Amino acid sequence: MIDITFSRQLIIIGLLFLMAFSCIDCNNVANDYKAIKPATASNWQAPDTNSLVSTPGADLIRYGKELIINTAKYLGPKGTVVFISNGMNCGNCHLDGGTRINGNCFAMVAATYPKFRNRSGKSESIQFRINDCLERSLNGKKLDTSSKEMAAMVAYLKWLGKDVPKNIVIKGMGVPIVPLLSRAASVEKGGHVFKLRCSSCHGANGLGLLKPDSSGYIYPPLWGSHSYNVKAGIFRLSSSAGFVKYNMPYNAKPQAPSLTDEEAWDVAAFINTQERTFKTFPDDWPMLSSKPIDYPFGPFSDSFSEQQHKYGPFTSIKNPKNNKVALDK
Ligand code: HEC
Ligand code: HEC
Repeated sequence: MIDITFSRQLIIIGLLFLMAFSCIDCNNVANDYKAIKPATASNWQAPDTNSLVSTPGADLIRYGKELIINTAKYLGPKGTVVFISNGMNCGNCHLDGGTRINGNCFAMVAATYPKFRNRSGKSESIQFRINDCLERSLNGKKLDTSSKEMAAMVAYLKWLGKDVPKNIVIKGMGVPIVPLLSRAASVEKGGHVFKLRCSSCHGANGLGLLKPDSSGYIYPPLWGSHSYNVKAGIFRLSSSAGFVKYNMPYNAKPQAPSLTDEEAWDVAAFINTQERTFKTFPDDWPMLSSKPIDYPFGPFSDSFSEQQHKYGPFTSIKNPKNNKVALDK
């Protein structure tokens, strides 16, 4: 029999060695997961909601999926349960209810949480992580952790990842990483990309397109007071570029993205230069040296400017301690 603990140790040692010399732009694997093991299973398929008939708690799981896809209907400014978010849906960024490969997929949540994250500096529960996205990505308020809505979303995420073993990385989880440019991302060039490739849906003013009864969005806003705030993960250029390159214009095929790397970084720079809500989270990044290279708010553990931490060039920002956290989510 193979000694699992020993082989795991070997893998970890191997990985540490690899990370010491590896690129920080390895494509397609969200950096958060690199620390576990290189991609192995690439053919994850979400379980079918129709198979839920006989599952205990099936209704709760279905409600969780509905909350992720149609968040605004329940939790938005005109929500039927509580008004705690900005009108966007979780599914606007976690595509197909968080089941799309390269589309900020949730497959590994069940296997990896509770998980230590550098942003909070502690081990986070799924509930904590959901509230993080509510307060930042949906520029809203925390959901009561004892509410039915929280229980439902957690039940859905656990059910989605129920067949994913621990310590395995599925290719295409989270947000893919676009290779770093050796120049700073250009807001001006990004503006052209936006006009040509994005404004037809998201609007020339970037504010999206509301449903006729304004209960939510047909096309979500990319900036403005109903968009994500500056402390959302997707405000960081690497997340924004990665999401956009592999998923936008909407229904771009992840296997054949229609934007070049440069266009993705530039349009990300353009979007994240427009006006959006500024919010403060004083407890973020308790260890300065763990701030990712594209986290654009000081103080920093290096001497690069906020400008460079926002737009790059990132290739010249070296994290002195550990490349692993260079693009940590
Ligand atoms: C504006 C975009 C956006 C919206 C809207 C959004 N998220 Fe996220 N979410 C992200 C990004 C970006 C990440 C980080 C992905 C990564 O680590 O690669 C993330 C990560 C997560 C994670 C952790 C995934 C993991 O594998 O570690 C969970 C859970 C999550 N979001 C839940 C939600 C829920 C629930 C909602 C709605 C209440 C929501 N998100 C809305 C952008 C968004
Ligand atoms: C054909 C219409 C269409 C085009 C063109 C399009 N998008 Fe989107 N975009 C969408 C839709 C629809 C969603 C929400 C997806 C969902 O809920 O399933 C979305 C979501 C997003 C999101 C995450 C949610 C948010 O509002 O922040 C970002 C970022 C984004 N698009 C950026 C872009 C960029 C950049 C371009 C141009 C390169 C672009 N989109 C082009 C339709 C489009």
